[in-house]
Amino acid sequence: MGSISIKTPDDIEGMRLAGRLAAEVLDFVAPYVKAGISTGELDRLCHDYIVQVQQSIPAPLNYCPPGYTPYPKSICTSVNDVVCHGIPGGKVLKNGDVINIDITVIKDGYHGDTSRMFFVGEPSILAKRLTDITYDCMWLGISKIRPGAHLGDIGHVIQHHAESAGFSVVREFCGHGIGKVFHEEPQVLHYGRPGTLAKLEAGMIFTVEPMINAGRREIREMTDGWTIKTRDRSLSAQWEHTVLVTETGFEVLTVSPGMPAPPSFIREHHAGSIAALA
Ligand code: MF3
Ligand code: CO
Ligand code: CO
Repeated sequence: MGSISIKTPDDIEGMRLAGRLAAEVLDFVAPYVKAGISTGELDRLCHDYIVQVQQSIPAPLNYCPPGYTPYPKSICTSVNDVVCHGIPGGKVLKNGDVINIDITVIKDGYHGDTSRMFFVGEPSILAKRLTDITYDCMWLGISKIRPGAHLGDIGHVIQHHAESAGFSVVREFCGHGIGKVFHEEPQVLHYGRPGTLAKLEAGMIFTVEPMINAGRREIREMTDGWTIKTRDRSLSAQWEHTVLVTETGFEVLTVSPGMPAPPSFIREHHAGSIAALA
């Protein structure tokens, strides 16, 4: 195991900008997420906004971790039973679909990584409940972040909340350190035991991005080499923020005017940690 980098004040400034830009792409694309649009059209809209308006780079495009083929698009669009890394294309959204849109931009060399769920028309009761529980899982995990806390504290609270609702936590994918590198140490597991794994220090930056399945936790990979689905074809939901460990707690970096309000337990206890609320 290597070590977790501590960001400099300049790095943190760069990450604040990259994080805000990533969140603003989600604000931009939200009104287009309607029945009749294809995921490929959402990709093109986001790509053009990132490149032309934000003068930034869409990090997924041609991203090629060891053992993978280059990712062919600029965003990830994961619909219904797709857990993550859905490749945009000809799939046309219809009423009742639920979609995660995951945006990573590179600005001045720094990565900002965030995703949100969107409903196409009226969601089913199950889709709404899964999406809401997953949102609270992400924020419960974030709420544990402070110097001296352990990564296992984050995983534990997420796992407990998801499983108490009768849902399951995907094990094969996790949050990650991020900075000038897209995916760096540490791995941020969304399950675990309190007091285990790395101890947090001010200046660390990582994502919290739980993938929660309505049914069983097992997944399968599609032959495109990227798309991950639930093995039992149950619905899956995910939310993601990029977060800085501060001297007193945390600062969410992927903030924007259009971001959904955090749950009330966050608004009441951690308002100062979210620039958009302060
Ligand atoms: N944005 C994803 C994450 O949260 C990673 C996507 S990699 C891609 O870590 F190549 F599929 F875009
Ligand atoms: Co991420
Ligand atoms: Co992401």
